[in-house]
Amino acid sequence: MSLTKEALQALQKCVDPDQLINAHEELLCYSYDGTGREFLPEAVLLPVSNEEVSSIMKVASAYNIPVVPRGAGSGMTGGSLPVAGGLVLSLTRMNRIIEIDKDNQIAVVEPGVINQQLRQALHPLGLFYPPDPASLKFCTIGGNVAECAGGPSAVKYGVTRDYVLGLDAVLADGREISTGVRTAKGVVGYDLTRLLIGSEGTLAIITKIILRVIPRPTSRRTVLLLSDSIADATGLVARLLHIITPATLEYLDATALNIVADKIPFQLPTQTKAMLLLELDGSKEMVASQANQLNNFLEHENLLMVKSASTDEERDSLWQARRSVSPAAFALKPDKMGEDVVVPRSRIPKLVAYTEHLAKISTLPIFTFGHAGDGNIHVNIMLDRSKPEEVEQANDAKHKLFKQVIDLGGTISGEHGIGLTKKDYLAIELPPTSLNIQRQLKQLFDPQNILNPHKIFP
Ligand code: MLT
Ligand code: ZN
Repeated sequence: MSLTKEALQALQKCVDPDQLINAHEELLCYSYDGTGREFLPEAVLLPVSNEEVSSIMKVASAYNIPVVPRGAGSGMTGGSLPVAGGLVLSLTRMNRIIEIDKDNQIAVVEPGVINQQLRQALHPLGLFYPPDPASLKFCTIGGNVAECAGGPSAVKYGVTRDYVLGLDAVLADGREISTGVRTAKGVVGYDLTRLLIGSEGTLAIITKIILRVIPRPTSRRTVLLLSDSIADATGLVARLLHIITPATLEYLDATALNIVADKIPFQLPTQTKAMLLLELDGSKEMVASQANQLNNFLEHENLLMVKSASTDEERDSLWQARRSVSPAAFALKPDKMGEDVVVPRSRIPKLVAYTEHLAKISTLPIFTFGHAGDGNIHVNIMLDRSKPEEVEQANDAKHKLFKQVIDLGGTISGEHGIGLTKKDYLAIELPPTSLNIQRQLKQLFDPQNILNPHKIFP
């Protein structure tokens, strides 16, 4: 326990009574995330302003209390779990869209704004914020920035970091900083904005985000490709990207398809082993021209079926199916190690073949899906954590997978971050000097190690 009576009294002075939670049953709501792991905080604070965050951090630093910032708790690697107890700083009440500057294509938001709400606010203005994590209906922009979230549209539009121009943040000792610019360019000093993006709440608490937004595409077409071979389907990804740049290029294996089959609006041939889900977007003319190029390319491919969604309902069902893969996986086993490895796109066939090998030598269900256009494949190792032999098998498969990914020239995380679940594997990817410099940065920002402790570093 790090929260003394005296510290609690000091925190009570920072916020109104309804902004501080310490009843056990309410704390439970802030004790879990998308990993299924649970750690109970000692108190939850719900600040509504930069000033409140700053005064809370001053108290936390004076009393040496761990603080874990939290958005919607949808993270996949334990970034928002209070593993050392202490405080959870829920930023959900800082949920204002402060400004949309249409002329300059900029949106300024607080961290608790829901990704989908920002999209809805931009839509009537003809603008668009592309990063689209599967959880976009409930995840927050602050959480997206903290983890540098990606999503299906990253293949064309990039990830969260490609849209963040500047930030306001509160440091561990309560000091406030502003980073970056609100112009299209800016190279003054070190790029602290990029350093804070993806830092998983370990360096500062993000309290305001200046985003670049872009004109919204006016037309789109969703195309489904079905194959009886995982190798063929994943093998065409890198070649296809020489012909066109689709807005999405997603992949699902047979298990992923099976668990969401009830949401797919078409009857799939029984021999189906893999699906690619593409979306073309732009002006009507651009979409028609890309569709032609795609059809010409596919003429020489050996596919079971090529089908376009013919109505908005069909399109929505296909995306609903795709976005449901992760939660639907729990039909297979009660627990999941959901990895988000990335390899160079031409090596996806090697990666998926290796995961099939891992599945063969294990008794656990292991299946793959994900953002094939980025080489970012979600490898899901399903298990029951109450069975030690399954945990051992799953850990072994995960370790082998990560080593193979590095051998293929890849990275162990493309969009979920390191958090708690991957920190023991960091040294597989990062050389000691790089790891040391990163530790020194953490020390500089947070010398008492109170901001999201026990995350990222082994
Ligand atoms: C997805 O692409 O569906 C998400 O990243 C969630 C996941 O991998 O579990
Ligand atoms: Zn994903």
